[in-house]
Amino acid sequence: MLDLFVALPAVALLLCWVWRRIDFERRRKAFSRDHGCLPPVNASRFDPILGIYHTFNIARASAKGRHLQNLHDNLFSKYGNSFSMLVMGQPILLTNDPRNLQAILATQFGDFEIGTRRRDVMADLLGVGIFNADGDAWAHARATIRPNLTRKQFTDVVLFEKHFQVWMNHMPVGQGKLLDVQEWVFRFTLDVGTELLCDKSADTLHPEGAAAGHRFGWAIDTACDVISVRMQLGKLWRLYGGRDNREACQAVRDYIDPMVHEAVKRAKLAKQLGDGVVEDDPRYTFLGALANEGLGAEEISSHVLNMLFAARASTASLISSVIRLLAENTRVQTRLRHEIQDSLNGRLPTYEDVRNLTYLNYIIKETLRLYPPAPQSLRAAIKDTTLPVGGGPDGTAPVFIPKGGEVGFIIYSTHRRTDIWGDDADQFRPERWETVKPLFQYLPFNAGPRICPGQSLAQAEAGYVIARFLQEYSVLKPPNPPRPYREYLHISLAAKGGVWVTVDR
Ligand code: HEM
Repeated sequence: MLDLFVALPAVALLLCWVWRRIDFERRRKAFSRDHGCLPPVNASRFDPILGIYHTFNIARASAKGRHLQNLHDNLFSKYGNSFSMLVMGQPILLTNDPRNLQAILATQFGDFEIGTRRRDVMADLLGVGIFNADGDAWAHARATIRPNLTRKQFTDVVLFEKHFQVWMNHMPVGQGKLLDVQEWVFRFTLDVGTELLCDKSADTLHPEGAAAGHRFGWAIDTACDVISVRMQLGKLWRLYGGRDNREACQAVRDYIDPMVHEAVKRAKLAKQLGDGVVEDDPRYTFLGALANEGLGAEEISSHVLNMLFAARASTASLISSVIRLLAENTRVQTRLRHEIQDSLNGRLPTYEDVRNLTYLNYIIKETLRLYPPAPQSLRAAIKDTTLPVGGGPDGTAPVFIPKGGEVGFIIYSTHRRTDIWGDDADQFRPERWETVKPLFQYLPFNAGPRICPGQSLAQAEAGYVIARFLQEYSVLKPPNPPRPYREYLHISLAAKGGVWVTVDR
């Protein structure tokens, strides 16, 4: 009897699964016929149920800090610019093809969404906001946030200089001492980000800074660590996290919420007294502006955290990578030093200066090409659709993407394709930007309706810090013996083990 109780549901489940497969295959065939689609190259042909081979292959490469390089060198080079595979039993189409990137991000934007995976995994820390929402919730968040990012406070170099001074005063340099500059850069972008987006900087660059700020720094790092592991676990993400994560998310809220409640209270009072805050008012803050628009405390906290999350690690990644590449490339460093000296003659750069330092901007572009802070991303189809290329043995036919099907686009690989960038694609050569004008072949900030709204801020902040760093230190050298670069795929791409350099005045 018991056997029957077990057997019947099992058979029902199996039949259900078989029926869904048959239905899916029928749909796929009809849709593919109508749109001229062909199946993509299948990298899991010999492992078609669980995808264990590629799951282990990817996990092994990640542990060695070579996940992206492994995708580029071993998978795209073997299977072509678009191919399907199974990872942890889940099918995914991987692509580095600019035509597909254009479709996903721009021309067929409406066919894809960020998906529940990113939203759910990040919800403990971020709630739901611009970075992890889809549909109306995303459109509302974007419309609320976008105008605030164009205000002049977001390119205020005085703010950068203030925190840069604290950094310089506390970083121990000189006498050939090696130091991990990446750690300092992450603290710098956190201190700038919290001052811009909240009412108060976390001040983590001050060794003796407020305990609350340091706890916030710890909490946001811990919660981000959990998010990056969860993102890789597919449907099993809930198994990872636990007490540390709960404590970290609570600590983040404990830090942000009092400031938000204060801003909401102030906004209500100002409204009663008829004293609205105007755009150029020195009291302007991002948080204050949202409160003035009448948003509730919960929604404001989510917006602030989404922004901080999107802004902090990516900008730190860019600045740290530029410093590493300058230390390793004496010729480029010398040419940049000349440009900075000739243009500024020792004075502090303005926002306009940073925009006009041509070679500095080539260096930033080239760094974003080779080490894009957001090197890979994921979208899920919200209906049966197609991508322009990737189907058939040579990948030139359109390819069918079923509703719910995931597409991973790996711009790290697009940025290193020799057929796009030439034989020296993997070389750091800022001069290439004198002539190239790529479109969807180069997407460090993405494109289309979800293009990064913080691009100008990130470029201004990075440009300012690099110019000031070289003004401050006449010596910037790599370690001897050299330490090989390894990827650390956190929220953004960082260097595993840090960026070790010697600097001196
Ligand atoms: C070098 C630094 C930065 C890089 C390379 C970068 C890159 C990106 C990329 C690639 C995305 C799209 C992610 C995806 O959809 O999968 C994105 C989204 C976003 N970025 Fe940035 N970002 C940087 C700095 C910033 C800064 C400084 C801010 C804010 C002040 C910011 C705010 C955002 C926001 C809010 C989104 C979500 C936009 C949306 O989905 O509508 N980013 N960024």
